[in-house]
Amino acid sequence: MNAWLTMDSLGLTEGSTRIIDDVSLALSAQRTVVLGPNGAGKSTLLRLIHGLLRPSAGTLRWPQALSQAMVFQRPIMLRTTALANVIYGLKLKGCTAHECDRRARQALAHVGLEALAQRPARLLSGGEQQRVALARAWALEPQLLILDEPTASLDPASSREVERIINDIAASGTRILMTTHNLGQARRIAEEIVFIDRGRIAEQTPVAEFFRLPRTPAAQDFLQEEMP
Ligand SMILES: Nc1ncnc2c1ncn2[C@@H]1O[C@H](COP(=O)(O)OP(=O)(O)OP(=O)(O)O)[C@@H](O)[C@H]1O
Ligand SMILES: [Mg+2]
Repeated sequence: MNAWLTMDSLGLTEGSTRIIDDVSLALSAQRTVVLGPNGAGKSTLLRLIHGLLRPSAGTLRWPQALSQAMVFQRPIMLRTTALANVIYGLKLKGCTAHECDRRARQALAHVGLEALAQRPARLLSGGEQQRVALARAWALEPQLLILDEPTASLDPASSREVERIINDIAASGTRILMTTHNLGQARRIAEEIVFIDRGRIAEQTPVAEFFRLPRTPAAQDFLQEEMP
């Protein structure tokens, strides 16, 4: 498989702390989940990949430029309707008012929220807001969708709904790169697990193998603590 992203000796240092430490990694799976303990550097790595942070060392190589969108743990909603939130992202990309409206409504329908299109987004429940955020990302038809703990603030039913939407987005051909602390979810979504520990890549393993027999002591300890 050809890598769609290669990182060479990537580093991010704040003061004397190496948050991301000499990461060399090639991503080629369509669905990759980054796992690791709190503070390991997962969010930082995703932000570097999305271009929200600039590396202090090393390089990111994209063999082909990929359009990308990112979804965060806490959805950021504009003070307007759910529909206008989705349209906003599309307008930045440029489409006619009519076309933006059509695509936004279609994206809301994909996440099962067409009935709430005219509601003020900030008054929606946390799970509904996250679905609006997913619709906003999906409407852009990104080639890569990055998600940082998209279900961390949600109850189990909302989490499963968000998971279903992520799987639908993946099925449409979009590459998925995400973090989660929900190991069942990682198992259901990932093809490949990247395990990160103290800013370093400990291992990169196909999902079934990772959960059966992680190669590194760090990942073994992590799984033992999370799944006693
Ligand atoms: N701007 C910054 N300045 C200094 N330290 C930072 C900065 N951003 C992150 N850190 C530190 O870098 C480490 C990695 O943070 P990061 O948020 O990437 O971890 P994480 O793996 O996403 O953790 P969690 O599972 O809790 O979300 C943490 O120790 C954090 O405190
Ligand atoms: Mg994080």
